[in-house]
Amino acid sequence: MRYHAREAAGPLSGTLRLPGDKSISHRAILFAAASEGTSRLTGVLDGADVRSTIGAVSLLGAEVAVDSARVGLDVTVTGWGESGPISPSTPMDCGNSGTTSRLLLGLLAGWDVTVTLVGDESLSERPMARVTVPLAGMGAEFTTRDGRLPITVHGGAIRCGIHTIPVASAQVKTALLLAGLRGQGRTVVTEPAPSRDHTETMLPAFGVEVGRDLDELSCWIEGPTVPTACDMAVPADPSSAAFMVAAAILVPGSDVVLPDVCLNPTRTGFLRVLHRMGADIGVDVRIDQAPERVGTVHARYSGDLVATVVESQEIPSLIDEVPILAVIASQAVGTTRFEDVGELRVKESDRLKAVHEGLLALGVEARSGPDWLEVDGRAELSGAELDSLGDHRLAMAWAVAASIASAPVVIDRFEAVDISYPGFSTDLASLSF
Ligand code: S3P
Repeated sequence: MRYHAREAAGPLSGTLRLPGDKSISHRAILFAAASEGTSRLTGVLDGADVRSTIGAVSLLGAEVAVDSARVGLDVTVTGWGESGPISPSTPMDCGNSGTTSRLLLGLLAGWDVTVTLVGDESLSERPMARVTVPLAGMGAEFTTRDGRLPITVHGGAIRCGIHTIPVASAQVKTALLLAGLRGQGRTVVTEPAPSRDHTETMLPAFGVEVGRDLDELSCWIEGPTVPTACDMAVPADPSSAAFMVAAAILVPGSDVVLPDVCLNPTRTGFLRVLHRMGADIGVDVRIDQAPERVGTVHARYSGDLVATVVESQEIPSLIDEVPILAVIASQAVGTTRFEDVGELRVKESDRLKAVHEGLLALGVEARSGPDWLEVDGRAELSGAELDSLGDHRLAMAWAVAASIASAPVVIDRFEAVDISYPGFSTDLASLSF
């Protein structure tokens, strides 16, 4: 679908309850599917990626009932628990979702099942060896297409051990911990920088203790263990909030309030960077909605942004927000530099290349290297024709850029927003009245 995104007619204002967090929704469904008993999950994101996870666990034998609710989906899951998943008779379609595929490979690694995972064109190009190689070392067998989907996993007896992973990836960390549920003893994962820690915060709610050494960036679980069902409310997604925060700080006179946002510090790097740049954003940690920190984000127009250096160690805490931060950087005084963002090349698209090229098309001076990006500020954005490349975060970043561009930005394949934020354009438009 071709979408014509236009300059905001005036200030944006209002209160928006954003859709549920994608990472937490995936994990809640997967952990519930692996549990003994029935879990009731509320506020689950009704997006294509999470639908892929729901479809996958149903195929594996979990009983899932899905109802539309005022906020997202109410999902009731009766897990396979002690008896384990079943081998489906058809391949399991993970759609566009890296989280679905990588977490499932870990979850299935220790069970006596044979499962083939497939995905769409983008997912079929993404690297999976980062999970299949360590999981094979733990005892599972994989047939892959040169380290990519389609992948067939044959589960095996899990050997526990100590894993030092080379990239800060919550998906890899989680896959190894989930395989460790079936091991005899301790599975330890150490990462090079802190990636999102929803698995560590959520597994205890499902009765699985997770040990952590925050200084060493290590976490571990003791197997064998079977999670137990629990009820959980999913907070709003800070990665979706980032687009509305950006629109508010860029469009003169705006004032936008976003309640119930997940404020887990491993997800809010973009708020810390924006504060450093001088953005007018209030954060009110209202309640501790265990197991995650939740609160209200209040963003106002911020005309005096200054450029910054976004450093290597903070990248994992804002990895999905780099496209929209780059759009914001185009309005700051000075040049903003993103260090060590090579991981962007293996997301739903090559986001580093796409962001660089998109910014140039919008009239922004920008430069990139193998793993860095520089964006010059104080740009006057022009209209442009851009392709989302089927990447939801690019589609939304370009739509927000349009709100301050001098002519419409035409975005091809805009339906990609449904991956994480169905209703994005309606929500953005609702702030204009
Ligand atoms: C996710 C982790 C991140 C992120 C992705 C969701 C998760 O990927 O980019 O959108 O839910 O664990 P990596 O862990 O591969 O960096």
